[in-house]
Formats: sequence, C-alpha cells, structure tokens
Amino acid sequence: MRLLVLANWITLLLFTVPALAFDSANGKVLHDESCVRCHDESMYKRVDRKIKSYPSLRERVVQCEIMTELIWFEEEIDDVTTYLNNAFYHFNMEK
Ligand code: HEC
Repeated sequence: MRLLVLANWITLLLFTVPALAFDSANGKVLHDESCVRCHDESMYKRVDRKIKSYPSLRERVVQCEIMTELIWFEEEIDDVTTYLNNAFYHFNMEK
C-alpha cells in the first residue's frame, strides 16, 4: 500500500515539474499581444539599454505590465521574462 502511494507521488512529480519550466513561446504570444504598443523590439536591442541582469529584467517586465494595466499571473510574467531573455538579453538566470 505504501509503495503505491509513493508511486503515485512520483508520477505526480514527473508530470508537475515540466509544467513549472517557463514557457518562452507563450511569453512571445503574450508579449506580441500586449507589449508593442509603446515600444517595439528595438527597445531591447538598443545600445544603451538599461537592463543589466535577469532580476532587473523581470522587474522591468512587471513595471511595464502594471503600466499597461494588464493583470498577469506570476507564470505569465516569468514566461515573458524568459522569452525576452532568450531572444534578446541572454542573462544567466541564476544571477
Ligand atoms: C505604456 C507604454 C509601455 C508599454 C505598453 C510597455 N512598455 Fe516597456 N517600456 C516603456 C518605456 C517608456 C521604457 C523605457 C524606460 C527607460 O528608458 O527607462 C520601457 C522599457 C522596457 C524594457 C527595458 C528596455 C531596456 O532598456 O533594456 C523592457 C524589458 C520592457 N519595456 C518590457 C515591456 C513589456 C514586457 C511590456 C508588456 C507587458 C511593455 N514593456 C509594455 C513603456 C511601455
């Protein structure tokens, strides 16, 4: 019986963990839907861009998201941050 419970937990874990990985493709959809009103992608490529680390990129996404009056879930903010990081910023996510 115990073993069965354990097996269930392992199955549950196997299915939940991948769902926690941030979804960059979803981030692009959200971004293209809501974030190109004031600036396009050149903002992320400008020579004097202000964002210098992953946490500050996420912070900026939150600020722009609030400004845009979107009410995103944490996961959506993470998806968009991941998309911007993969496509433009290339920060080490650990830092
Ligand atoms: C209401 C207008 C507006 C909207 C809509 C908007 N932004 Fe911004 N965003 C700005 C402005 C203005 C700046 C430049 C701020 C600066 O130069 O300090 C900026 C800068 C940024 C930067 C930093 C660029 C750099 O210097 O590296 C990121 C990242 C960003 N926005 C992401 C987003 C995302 C994601 C969304 C969608 C949720 C979004 N923005 C929607 C106005 C907006």
